[in-house]
Amino acid sequence: MATPAGNTMDRIVALCRRRGFIFQSSEIYGGINGFWDYGPLGVELKRNIKEAWWHDMVHARDDMVGLDCAIIMHPQVWKVSGHYDLFSDKMVDCRECKARFRADYLYGVSISPDPENAPQAVVTFVATSPEDAKIQVEANWKKIKKQHALLDEHHLYAYPWLHELESMEGNSNCPSCGAYGSLTPPRDFNLMFETYTGAVRDEENKTFLRPETAQGIFVNFKNVCDTTRIKIPFGIAQMGKSFRNEITPRNFIFRSREFEQMEIEFFCHPDESNRWYEYWRDLRLKWYVDLGLSSGRLRLREHGKEELSHYSCGTSDIEYAYPFLAEGEFGELEGVAHRGDFDLRSHMEGKLASQDGKLVLDVGPDGKPRFKGSGRDLTYFDDERKQRYVPHVIEPSAGADRATLAFICEAYTVDESRPSPELMKFHPRVAPIKAAVFPLVAKDGLPEIAEPIYRELRARWPVQYDAKQSIGKRYARMDEAGTPFCFTIDGQSKADGTVTVRDRDTGRQERIDKSHCSQYLADRIGR
Ligand code: GAP
Repeated sequence: MATPAGNTMDRIVALCRRRGFIFQSSEIYGGINGFWDYGPLGVELKRNIKEAWWHDMVHARDDMVGLDCAIIMHPQVWKVSGHYDLFSDKMVDCRECKARFRADYLYGVSISPDPENAPQAVVTFVATSPEDAKIQVEANWKKIKKQHALLDEHHLYAYPWLHELESMEGNSNCPSCGAYGSLTPPRDFNLMFETYTGAVRDEENKTFLRPETAQGIFVNFKNVCDTTRIKIPFGIAQMGKSFRNEITPRNFIFRSREFEQMEIEFFCHPDESNRWYEYWRDLRLKWYVDLGLSSGRLRLREHGKEELSHYSCGTSDIEYAYPFLAEGEFGELEGVAHRGDFDLRSHMEGKLASQDGKLVLDVGPDGKPRFKGSGRDLTYFDDERKQRYVPHVIEPSAGADRATLAFICEAYTVDESRPSPELMKFHPRVAPIKAAVFPLVAKDGLPEIAEPIYRELRARWPVQYDAKQSIGKRYARMDEAGTPFCFTIDGQSKADGTVTVRDRDTGRQERIDKSHCSQYLADRIGR
């Protein structure tokens, strides 16, 4: 069997579509950019990831409680948090075709025998890095050569468009329509989706779809302290939908406009915050490794000072080498941030701003706060220390869709020695279907043995029964779905009550007693 056609990412997207993991939203109307639907296998996979997170981060711990907040919150929340005036990307428009790009994704590539000193042509690309831009030039070389009458011999020199603005602005083409000198200077574009609550559509009633779940946790901090017996250090966890009107949603479900987050805000004494930051950073990395992201495509990257958000005293990204990125590049899977007391203080006092390395009230020219806080007391009285303080916060903030994509990419395997070479090696805990039950043939009394086994397993796990087609085709279907175990009932089952269990990853089979199937799965999947 030949290697499936296309690059790895194209093949993964095709398998996800073909097997019902992920579909483009509103596909029958041509789709809508930045929105995705999870099909029958995808919904199970994503639920398993979210349930594993909730179990391990909330249920299995004594120092964590959960929340589920409204998506639309009081507009003041977003003014005080900084999202209203700071949550924006720089965007660039094409004056000709009206296409819109994120300025940090635009790269200019000069092409000539000596590109740094004498650019023969500058072509603008949407890319993730200079390396990616160069790869795209190479891939489109025939077309570019024709357009710009270039020689065969060439060297490439890629600039981030934004940083080389002076030279690039009038001198670059629109990556979409190709028009020269048509790109505008970059402008700020707020990423929050706006809507209106109530019958009147005016400024007064303008509200926002939440761009993160975190703020729901901060504004409920006091409620949780007052209604539970939990004491600092403790965390509040929430998972749910967030919305960002991304300028260039792309790379499948990596950057979409509607996505799910799994966020923890962990509240602690300021003196202990660095220790907790390191604890969460290491624990979150280990969580992914334990669930199967262990191929070396995962890494932890500490942010440099210049990269830190306005509130953060330290941030690490857990990153994955997604296959749509150029060789050696990594994409953010989860951020673990030390947010200090920024959020609770802002919701008490009003929007804060950094000044000379300190957080101060953000005031307008009249000396009044630009955005007022709630005025509520969000300090915490520590019984043990006999001390009142504003807790510091460590925030492990993960994306459920980016995690799903990482698990899909990690699981995707091509084994050309198999009759059907593509398989998904999911960890049994996240696999959408845990097992399949097959009577070798749909006659001779085999279904009568297989069906009770199926019913017993189905009572505990998502399990499928299939009696159609050749056994090889049935195994191949389950391999593509990532089902770790297949139980087959054959002629020998009638004689001695045993069945075969086939391991998805090795293809090896062993015989076990039919009464042991449930225990066999429990030992390998847990719970
Ligand atoms: N409360 C902090 C916060 O929201 P973030 O880095 O903006 O931080 C956290 O987002 C995580 O949410 C990211 O690491 C990523 O997994 C996910 N995420 C953010 N934007 C996303 C998008 N447009 N599409 C899919 N996932 C996204």
